[in-house]
Amino acid sequence: MDISKAIIPAAGLGTRFLPFTKSVPKEMLPLLNKPAIQCIVEEGIKSDVKNFVIITSKNKQAIANHLDMDAELEQLLKERNKNTLLEALNRIHREAQFTYIRQPEPLGLGHAIWTARHSIGKEYFGILLPDDIITSPANPGLLQLIRIARQERASVLAIQEVPAECVSSYGIVKIKKQITPKLFQIADLVEKPLAKDAPSNLAVIGRYVLSHKIFSALEEATPYAVGELQLTDAISTMIKNNEKVFAYKIQGIRYDIGTPIGWLKANIGMALQDPTYTVHLKNFLADLDSPDSFMFESSKIFEHLK
Ligand code: UTP
Repeated sequence: MDISKAIIPAAGLGTRFLPFTKSVPKEMLPLLNKPAIQCIVEEGIKSDVKNFVIITSKNKQAIANHLDMDAELEQLLKERNKNTLLEALNRIHREAQFTYIRQPEPLGLGHAIWTARHSIGKEYFGILLPDDIITSPANPGLLQLIRIARQERASVLAIQEVPAECVSSYGIVKIKKQITPKLFQIADLVEKPLAKDAPSNLAVIGRYVLSHKIFSALEEATPYAVGELQLTDAISTMIKNNEKVFAYKIQGIRYDIGTPIGWLKANIGMALQDPTYTVHLKNFLADLDSPDSFMFESSKIFEHLK
C-alpha cells in the first residue's frame, strides 16, 4: 500500500491565538528556530510522504514562501560559506512537492479536507494537523499510523487518553474491539461530547491515514448547525458504510500549539530535549523558582545571563 501524499489543513482562523493570527498564520509560530509548518512537513518526509497538499486561506502566503526555494538567500549563504545553514534550507524543497489549495471560507476541517479531493487519487493518504506537534524522533507520528494502515489495510486515526473534563474538546471514539494494548477497531466517533455522554476517554488527535472513500462520505455528511463540516462526522459515515476504521495510541509527546500556553509548553519541552538549549533553560527555570530570583529584583533591569 503506497501512502505518499498528505494533506495539511492550514486554513483555520486561529481565533485562540488572536491577535497574533490577525496577519501571521499560526503555522508560522516558531518552535525554537523553525516555524511549526516546517516541523510538520519534516514529520511527513520522515514518514516517506513526498507530496503535500496544503489548504490555505487569505493572509497565509508566508507558508508557501517559507517552503519555497529562496535563490537569493541560498546564493548569499553560498558566498559566505554558510554550508550548514544552506543544507538545512535546501532539504525541504528537494525532498517534497507542494500543492496549495485555497479554502474560500473556514467551513470546518471536513470541508478543508474535501477541497483537496481532486489532488488525491483512489488511494490512502495522510492528514497532519499543524497545530498538533508530535515529537517522537525515532518513530514519527504519521509513520506509526502508516504502518498500521498497511497492516490492517484500513483507515487509522491517532488517539490519546484524555481526562474526563477534556473530552468535550475532542472527537471521542467508541470502541468496537481492542486488538492490542494500543490498537482498537472503532464502532463510531462522537464530536465533542459532554463527559457524561462520552463513549470512552480516547480522543482523536491531529494525525490520520484515511481511505479516499472519505471524500464521498464528506459529500454525504451534513454541515453542523454553525455551518461547519466535521471530519469526524464523515468518518462515522464511512464506518456506517462498512469501512473498517482503527484507532492507534501513538508514541511521542504531543503539544497543542493552537493556544499560547500550549505553544509555550512546546517550546520549553522541545528546548529541554535539545542540547543547544537545555543547560541555559534549566538554569533560567531554576532561578525563577528561587526566592532571590532576578524576577523579584524590581529595582534592576537586566538580562538573565547564566
Ligand atoms: P482548529 O479548530 O484547531 O483551528 O482546526 P482553527 O480553526 O485555526 O483555530 P481556532 O479554533 O479558531 O483557534 C484544526 C485544523 O484544521 C484547520 C486549521 O487550520 C487547523 O490546522 N482548519 C480548520 C481548516 O483548514 N479550515 C477550517 O475551516 C477549519
